[in-house]
Amino acid sequence: MSESTIIVIFGASGDLTRRKLIPALYSLYLKKRMPDTFAIVGISRSPLSDDDFRAQVESGVQNFAASKYDPARWAEFAPRITYRPADLGSVEGMRQLDDYLQQLEGDNGSCNRLYYLAIAPRLYEIAINNLGAANMISEDHGWRHVVIEKPFGHNLASAEQLNTAIHKVLHESQIYRIDHYLGKETVQNLLVFRFANALFEPVWNRNYIDHVQITAAEKVDVGHRAGYYDGIGVVRDMMQNHMMQLLTLVAMEPPASFEANALRNEKVKVLSAIQPITPETAVQHTVRGQYRGYRNAEGVVPNSETATYAAIRFYIDNWRWQGVPFYLRSGKALAEKSSEITIFFKRPPHIMFPLPADTQLAANFLSICVQPDEGIHFSFQAKVPDTAAEMRSVDMTFHYNDTFGPTAIPEAYERLLFDALKGDASLFTRGDAIELSWRLIDPILAAWESEAAPPLATYEPGSWGPKEADDFISHDGFMWTQGCCDE
Ligand SMILES: NC(=O)c1ccc[n+]([C@@H]2O[C@H](COP(=O)([O-])OP(=O)(O)OC[C@H]3O[C@@H](n4cnc5c(N)ncnc54)[C@H](OP(=O)(O)O)[C@@H]3O)[C@@H](O)[C@H]2O)c1
Repeated sequence: MSESTIIVIFGASGDLTRRKLIPALYSLYLKKRMPDTFAIVGISRSPLSDDDFRAQVESGVQNFAASKYDPARWAEFAPRITYRPADLGSVEGMRQLDDYLQQLEGDNGSCNRLYYLAIAPRLYEIAINNLGAANMISEDHGWRHVVIEKPFGHNLASAEQLNTAIHKVLHESQIYRIDHYLGKETVQNLLVFRFANALFEPVWNRNYIDHVQITAAEKVDVGHRAGYYDGIGVVRDMMQNHMMQLLTLVAMEPPASFEANALRNEKVKVLSAIQPITPETAVQHTVRGQYRGYRNAEGVVPNSETATYAAIRFYIDNWRWQGVPFYLRSGKALAEKSSEITIFFKRPPHIMFPLPADTQLAANFLSICVQPDEGIHFSFQAKVPDTAAEMRSVDMTFHYNDTFGPTAIPEAYERLLFDALKGDASLFTRGDAIELSWRLIDPILAAWESEAAPPLATYEPGSWGPKEADDFISHDGFMWTQGCCDE
């Protein structure tokens, strides 16, 4: 990238900056993917000097990107980082920041700015308002992009209100709403897998696909995040954003081009076609659970009804997907950490082999493993040697690790920062998609908080979730996958 750019990180003394943002920028620097001329300016209220801040973020790189840390390369990179203590709630503070940024930019014409809001969600609106009030959004001397962290709203009304507020200051093309799942290679590979191979698209529909399972299982419990998590729960934390995005990538029509709005238009069409779950049908289409012991965690109210596990069945009302259930499942304190999408194909319509009359052949399935074992598995039937017609499910696999090497997959934030610097919003969520997603999730949450809420099922930590969730899917004639990506 040949232009000058300043990356301003609001929330510089926080966890995200140290663990993810600076390690990602440093990695981009090592790969020569940063703009030719760049500076990184950290902003938060803590009274740190430039050196204090550099030491803080250097330890972040040493701890969270240890294999990349090279003292000599860090010494080249670090002088580009400075820190200014400021309160983003003060317009005067913003004006002083702008003066400082102008000093850094000098008189050399245009210089771009990327503002990264690594701050609590309640501060997004005030930060953007004050950037506007201090005239720091105008694009007369280079582009101005604003990256907004998740969560974006805590329900439909708050997401709409935030969109309305920020659109008063920013054009949609300047806004980069992060969903870090979209920065994962395996998620991006879904598009390549579907649309760069002629083999799969013809069977990617209701004629061949029986059902789809999307799982985001976490082995860890809420831990020290209990206070933040209680009242938010698994649906807001994982489903409204990451899992709905995965669903759109599985279900979308082929976009005409690999361009941000073409991609995002197709995602919006999927979200618009999902059959809404109403407060009345929530009992039928959802299961909510809480792991045993959750209420004892520090920061959790004693009789908390917060769901740490959820299973939801969605249907998409269009020609491609009519009648095909999409099951979303996520939980904490489960048996394994595993995020995967499994596409189950229909069974053969007729068995010509000499097998007992009640034999059911296992269905073919395709597992796209998002993490931690990044890759793809395809399960199909093979004849057991030296038998008449005995069959067994066997696995065809692709592992990123084996093909591209153990260090080939970059951190999601690296890709997302690179794209925000290039001005490519393909992997960021557009305002209408966020609202549509909340529109689907809101009635479920409302039902769960109402008198008619489905019972809160309990499950053992280390299990695969509540028995009620097994009954939920087996009632439809299916079974949950159990971390099949590891096989
Ligand atoms: N941490 C993660 O792994 C992670 C993952 C996904 C999403 N996120 C999202 O990223 C955002 C930041 O998370 P975090 O974990 O880094 O939070 P954090 O550790 O609490 O950091 C918040 C930062 O905001 C600064 N801040 C607070 N009030 C301010 C003000 N008025 N003016 C200027 N700076 C102010 C704080 O510094 P001072 O107190 O010094 O001002 C601190 O640097 C959140 O929206 C979170 O949801 C974080």
